[in-house]
Parts: sequence; structure tokens; C-alpha cells
Amino acid sequence: MTQQIQQTQEKTKAQISLPPYLVPVFTGKTRYRGSYGGRGSGKTRSFALMTAIKGYEWGMSGKTGQILCGREFMNSLEDSSLEEIKIAIRSIDWLNAYYEIGEKYIRSKDGRVNYTFVGLRRSLDAIKSKARIFLAWVDEAEGVSDLAWQKLIPTVREKDSEIWITWNPESKYSATHERFRVNAPDDSKIVQLNFRDNPWFPDVLEQERLEDKKKRPDVYEHVWEGGFLIFTEGSYYTEEMRRARNEKRIGVVAYERAKPVVTAWDLGVGDSTAIWFVQFIGTEIRLIDYFEGSGVGLDYYVRVLQDKGYVYDKHILPHDVKVRELGTGKSRIETLNSLGILNVDVAPKLMIDDGIQAVRSILDKCWFDEKKCERGIDCLVNYQREYDDNGQTWRQRPKHDWSSHGADAFRYLALGYTPSGNWGTPIRRKLKGVA
Ligand SMILES: Nc1ncnc2c1ncn2[C@@H]1O[C@H](COP(=O)(O)OP(=O)(O)OP(=O)(O)O)[C@@H](O)[C@H]1O
Ligand SMILES: [Mg+2]
Repeated sequence: MTQQIQQTQEKTKAQISLPPYLVPVFTGKTRYRGSYGGRGSGKTRSFALMTAIKGYEWGMSGKTGQILCGREFMNSLEDSSLEEIKIAIRSIDWLNAYYEIGEKYIRSKDGRVNYTFVGLRRSLDAIKSKARIFLAWVDEAEGVSDLAWQKLIPTVREKDSEIWITWNPESKYSATHERFRVNAPDDSKIVQLNFRDNPWFPDVLEQERLEDKKKRPDVYEHVWEGGFLIFTEGSYYTEEMRRARNEKRIGVVAYERAKPVVTAWDLGVGDSTAIWFVQFIGTEIRLIDYFEGSGVGLDYYVRVLQDKGYVYDKHILPHDVKVRELGTGKSRIETLNSLGILNVDVAPKLMIDDGIQAVRSILDKCWFDEKKCERGIDCLVNYQREYDDNGQTWRQRPKHDWSSHGADAFRYLALGYTPSGNWGTPIRRKLKGVA
């Protein structure tokens, strides 16, 4: 290490301050550094500052390259981290002396380091052509797709290059959560940060926080404590699922041995397959279990059903189960029959909206096993309209994401259900060869 860097680091140590939890994140070598948490915790400001310091060290060591600042959406520079980085640089004299700050750009005066700002949704392919990225920082990274991560990460390939990520968690099934918390890379330093960890947490935000705590307790955990977003605006079953929780219909719901189980499926091709396990006891609809998988054949799911050890009544499958598949020439219902799944009801092909109405009409009678149906419940809670980012409005159709499969399977269940507890004859189709 050159003396210059040592001097820089001494200077750095002497002159910058970070929220204490971030100090270990920025100490020592690692490829990934990151922080997640609630509003106002100092994530953006701290990482913005550290990009400038990393750029300074890089340039001072005689190397050239770019710092790429990405966000999921960036319609204009106003949506980027540009302003935050300007503020951070201006707050420290020796950084301010090193960089040249224009209205729309930041670069080092020695010409070695420059910043670029990109929206990952739209410009991902353009990133590949960007050379010499030694640092990529993605702020507000919650919604960044796995595909975007797969494309971005290999473009950051300079020796000693780093990838930094900051985000406010929303969903426990987001690609960012899975990649950087559930399966965090080995060489990563990623910590949680919340408002109380920010020594400069401003009074205006404190007022907002207290208001939220009092008036919007539903979202408080998510907004301020970095918890997942539980009830989203635009989600179809918010009210019903909230009632289920308040009325304590989400808890322990055991399998009743004396009654058979009905299953309802959404069959994915190259996509997830979801299965609900249901018992109808009196007027109650008891969701006792849920299973979701992908990348495996129908025989796998049949084995799952067997391994659960329930006694089955019937299996509700979506209408497309009758379509013959290219290649085998067999329909999936025939395949299931040959695997021993015989008593099949095919849910009618109806408009999605009718299915959603059908779900709403049965949810108040539903009891969910909290543990076994965890993901299925999450699907119902999160199933939502698609958001139009350009028009800033909710579209009429549902968004296709991880929650669609569980929600679709539940739709097929609701379509087959009649209040008497019997299956409606109109949709019941005994197929040839089915017992
Ligand atoms: N180093 C600092 N010096 C001065 N003020 C700071 C510093 N770090 C954070 N702050 C103050 O804390 C506020 C919140 O910080 P920041 O915007 O970085 O939080 P965040 O975690 O990114 O929040 P959000 O979740 O809203 O994006 C800033 O607007 C600023 O007022
Ligand atoms: Mg921020």
C-alpha cells in the first residue's frame, strides 16, 4: 500500500463520521457492502459519502474507472443519487477539492474517476458496455429483479471492485432480500440500520415517525423499523386478510383425521406450482397446509401429496390441465391420472375478476394454519394489482410475481366452492377414466 493511501485513510479516519453500525461494514476488504432498514436511518447519506471516499482512494492510487450508481427506476437524473452524492462531497473539504461537480455530473479533477447514473429496469443492457466499473452502488434496491442482479454483478469486474447495496425491505420474497440476506455472499458485510442508529436523525422525521406510530400502526413496522410490508395498497385481499388476523383465524389449524382433504392447484409450466390443502368442517374452510415448488415434474407433486399422509377427497385443477402437451401428446390430467391422482375437478375458466370476487366471498370463513401455510398466506396478502409506473396508477389486472401462484390456486379453490359445502355441479366434471 502506498503512503498516499495510508495518508488518505488516516485523513479519512480523522475526518468522516458514520452511524456506528456502519463502521464495521466499511472496515477491511470485501466485495459486497450493504445496509437495509427503515426510513431516515442514514443509509443513503452514508453510502453516498463512502462512494466519494472510495473514488478518492482509487484515483489517488493512480487507477482510473467509474462509479456506477444504479436505481431500479430512473426517468431522469432527479431520480438518481446524484444530489445526495453532491451534498456528501460538499460536506468534506478534501473531497470537495478532489471532485469537480457540475449540474449533471461528478468527476475527479484529475480525470481518473467519474460517476454514472443508471436506471436498472431500462438501461441494464447499456451497462454491459460500460468499462472499468470499480464500484457499483444500488440505492433503494428492494425492487431490483434477480435478472438485473445477474446482469449487473458480472459487469463489475475490475480487480478489487465492489458492489454496494442499500434498501428498505418490503417483501421477504424479493430478489434482493433472497440474494443479500437469506443467501448473503460469503464476502459481504451487510447490516440493518434504523432511525435510532442515525446520530443525525432530523426532528422533522421524528415528528413524522411519531405520527405514523399513532395513526398508521399498520405500516409503522415497515416504514420505520425495516419490517416487511404487510398490507400493501392495491392488494386485493387486504381487508379480508386483516380480518382473518384480527379474528385470530390465522394460528394453529390441525388436520382432522375424520375428514378428507381437498387440494387446489395452480399448475406452472416453467413457473411455480402451488397447492392448497383444505378441509371443510361445518361452515369453516380450514387451510391446513400449502406447498409450492418449481422446476420439477408432476410426479414430484404427487409424491408430496402422498408424503403428507392425508386422506384425500378430490383435487381441483385449473382448466388448462386438459390441454394436450407438445411432445408427449398427453394432457396433464392424463399424466396425473396415471400417477394415481384420480378424483379431479376442473375449475371453470372464468374472468380473473370473478375469481377474485369468489375468493373475497369465502375468505371470512377461512381458517389458516400459520406455520404450514406461511407462504400461501403471504401470497394472499401480497396479491395485488399491477402498478403503472409511468401513469402512477394501479392497473386493473393483477401483477405477476411470486404471489400469483398461491393466489391463483386459491382462486380455483374459491371457484369450486359452494356455500352448502358441496361442490357445485356446474363446474364438476367427472372426466373419462376418473374414479
Ligand atoms: N453524515 C450525516 N451528516 C448529517 N446529517 C446526516 C448524516 N447522515 C444522515 N443525516 C441526516 O439523516 C437524514 C436521513 O438520512 P438518509 O436519507 O441517508 O436515510 P435513509 O436511511 O437513506 O432513509 P430512507 O429510508 O428514507 O431512504 C438525512 O436527510 C440527514 O438529515
Ligand atoms: Mg435512502
